Parts: sequence; C-alpha cells; structure tokens
Amino acid sequence: MPRQPDDAYQELVSHLRQTELLSSCSALLGWDEQTYMPPGGAEHRANQLSLLSGMVHERATAPQVGALLDELGGSDLLAFPDSPAAVNVREARRDYSRAVKLPRKLVEELTRVASLAQQQWVAARKRSDFSLFYPWLDKMVALKREVAGAIGYGAGVPYDALLDEFEPGLTSAEVVRLFTPLRDALVELLSAIQGASRRPDRSLITRNYPVDAQRRFSQEAARQIGFNFDDGRLDETAHPFCSGIGPGDTRLTTRYDAHHFSGAFFGTLHESGHGIYDQGLNREAFGLPMGAAVSLGIHESQSRLWENFVGRSLGFWRHFYPGAQAAFPEALGDVSLEAFHGAINVVEPSFIRVEADEATYNLHILLRFELEQALIAGNLAPADVQSAWNETFTRYFGLTPPDDAQGCLQDIHWSCGLVGYFPTYCLGNMYAAQFFVAAQNDLGDLGAQFARGEFAALKHWLNDRIHRRGKQYRAQDLVKVVTGQSLSHTALVQHLRDKYSAIYGL
Ligand code: CO
Repeated sequence: MPRQPDDAYQELVSHLRQTELLSSCSALLGWDEQTYMPPGGAEHRANQLSLLSGMVHERATAPQVGALLDELGGSDLLAFPDSPAAVNVREARRDYSRAVKLPRKLVEELTRVASLAQQQWVAARKRSDFSLFYPWLDKMVALKREVAGAIGYGAGVPYDALLDEFEPGLTSAEVVRLFTPLRDALVELLSAIQGASRRPDRSLITRNYPVDAQRRFSQEAARQIGFNFDDGRLDETAHPFCSGIGPGDTRLTTRYDAHHFSGAFFGTLHESGHGIYDQGLNREAFGLPMGAAVSLGIHESQSRLWENFVGRSLGFWRHFYPGAQAAFPEALGDVSLEAFHGAINVVEPSFIRVEADEATYNLHILLRFELEQALIAGNLAPADVQSAWNETFTRYFGLTPPDDAQGCLQDIHWSCGLVGYFPTYCLGNMYAAQFFVAAQNDLGDLGAQFARGEFAALKHWLNDRIHRRGKQYRAQDLVKVVTGQSLSHTALVQHLRDKYSAIYGL
C-alpha cells in the first residue's frame, strides 16, 4: 500500500523538529560563550560548535528531506496555501533548496575565511587601519558573489540572492524604492533639527548612574513591558544580543556603563522586544516554520518598537520617571521629566552606527546598503571601500570620519560574511512605525496607557497579529495583512517629525 501524504508530512515534521533541537544546543553554547565561559574554554567551544553546525547542515541537506518534499508535492494537505501544513512545506522547501545549492566546499571555505577575516578585522579595527583588512574583505566579497551565483537570482542582481537570505522575497530594487524617499525626508529633518533654537541637554544621560541601580531598573522595565522572566533571563555581555533557545527559554543580554544611562536601558528594552517576539511564538510549532520568526526585518521591528516607539515616548516616562528619580537621585533629582525625555531623544550626527539616535541611525544603514550593493555588483573594489565610505558619509552627515575605526571598520558584519543584512535594521524601523500606527488605531491612545503603566494590550496585539503567525506570511504580505497597507516610509517619517517637532520646537 502506498504511503499516505500524512505519513510523509509527519516524517518531515519530526525531521525538522530534531534539526532545530540540535541547533538550539548550538544556540545555548553560543550564549554561554558570550556570557559565562572562561576564556580558556574558547578552543573546546569552537570544536563543539563546529561539530554541531556540521551535523545541522547534514540534516538540513539530507536527501531524505528532498524525497519527502517531492512526495508531498501536489498533495491535498497543501490545498490551502495559508494552512499550517502548506506553510511548513513551502518554507521547508525554500530552506532545503537554498541549502543544497551551496556546495559543501563553498560552505566550508566561507566558514574558514569568515573566522580568519573576523580576527583580521579585530586587529585592523584596533589599529584603525583598513589596509590590514581589505585583502580579507576582497576574499569575502568574492565568496559571497560565488554564493549568489550558486543560489541564483532574478533581474541580473546577485545582491538579491544575499538579501533574500535575511528578508525572504524582498529585492534590492524594492529596498531602493523604500529607502530613497526615506533618505530625502531624513536629510531635510536633520537640517531642520540642526537649525533649531531649542536643544535638549544630552549631558544628563552621562551623569553618574550606579550600575547596581541600573541593573534593577532595567530588569524591572523589561518585566513590566511583558518579558516573562519565568521563561527567560537577563545577563551581561560585551556585545548585547537576544537568543531564543527554545520554548520557555529566552536569553537577553546587556552591558552597563555607570556614565551612560541610555546604552544599557534602551539596549535592554531592545533585546526585550526581540525576546517578547520569541516568547510569543507558537510553542506547539517549535522547530517548524509556523513556530519561527518571519525575517530579520520583522524581528528587528519588534525590538525597535519597544525600544523607540514605547521606551522613548513621553507616556512611557510619565509612568517610569518617578522610579528613575528614586533609583538615580544623584543624576536625576534635579531634572524635570521633559528635560530627561529630551535628553534621551537628542539627535546628533555621529560616526558610530550603534550609538546613533533614532533618526540618523537610518542614514548609517543607507550608506552601508549603497556600498555593499556596489561591492557585490562589482562596481566598487574592496580596496576602495575606505574612500567610498568617507565620501558617502560626508555626503549624508556633513562630517568626515577621523579614522577607519570610526569609519569603514566599525562593523563586524562584512568580516563574517553578513552581506545583505544591514537593510533589515532600517526595514525594522519602517515596519515598527507602521505596526505602531495600526496598533494605535485598534487600541486607542497608547501613550495614555503607557502613562498608567499598561503595556499588556500592545503586547497581546503583537502576539496575535505577528508572533503567533510564525512564517505564515512573508514580511511584505504580513505588513499588508496587519496594517492594511504596503510597507512605506511615511509612518516612520511622520513619527520622527512629530517627536522632534515637540522636542526641538520645529
Ligand atoms: Co536587534
């Protein structure tokens, strides 16, 4: 008797689940490496992670998966494209076909070069000398072009094959269409802000904020906005991240600086936003596309939404400010709520992306997007990245980076082969703005809710509309389903204009 499609589907499901269980072991080891592992454990940890990643790749590309997917083709199980089974099969097919197109030799070479290039990047950044890094950037760009060729792309744009890894279905032409009007609006807004007569006092943020008090205050804020500490933790690390290990276990990380309030506080809210997404995924669908995040851009929208649209709003601080003054009497005892709110929202062109404010941050991304497209298209030689960077930076910000460490060497991404990743940060801001408007339309005056310490309605709205849907929709379709409109720059620009008009008196 021939096998029923149901059996093939169940076999696929159990294969995918076990693969994800295995990767979640790597995730846990990776979290430990960044938080508690003693330095002496580095080599053994690298061996553990390398063995696991080999095993995961082997499972992901197993011929058995291809056979199951073939067997399921045309089955009644897939009759409704939005049904969980159809979504799981569709996304499994996509992952499988991408994975098998990459020859093992290329994957191994990428891993090897990434690890060496990363070390060279660290050394080059330390000496602020791009000439030490560009031979490795050259190798990496060549490999990424090879990857694009192996995966294939439409419209003659190899970059699209790389972008598709992080933001499935999106093309660079579409990103350009989204980013161009955003850039024009931001440049205009920035010049209005620079000419403003009213200026908040940024130095309030760099007063003395004892680390113990920051720890308690950040953790309490993460709890109040809805991060569940029974199913998660908050620890310290050098480069903060959030890692969803699996159902019931989401790890946040942050870092504290006694003379900078915003870094740890907004960093914690940011990672909590990622964590709330991970905690909101459907547990029953663990290991399956229906239980996974849509894309990097959508993931980033959740972190930016809590960090910026909630955490930097006046309503949020109407609720939290008395607690902040009690926690940091020396720094904030004599500071009004309005002055504090201005200080956490100062806009200032600066060289370093990760320290940028909500408005100029996007320009940092547009610059990287421009350059990496040119690199992959072959229109920019890796050796010329330094001059191209400085030139573009001057065009956007009216400033020239004083050295490479504050210029083209500041980000780790290209050294480890993350090309096509940067646009997802800016897309995240755009998605967040549009989601927030839709939430406000459904839920009423969110600012008033925040002022009363009420964050649950917004969290549940995000749980229902976004988190629990897993990969049911691709990002661009999800935006339409949730907000009724295609993604555009307008909600983000409106949000920034409204906020800065109030703060800077524009
Ligand atoms: Co993030």
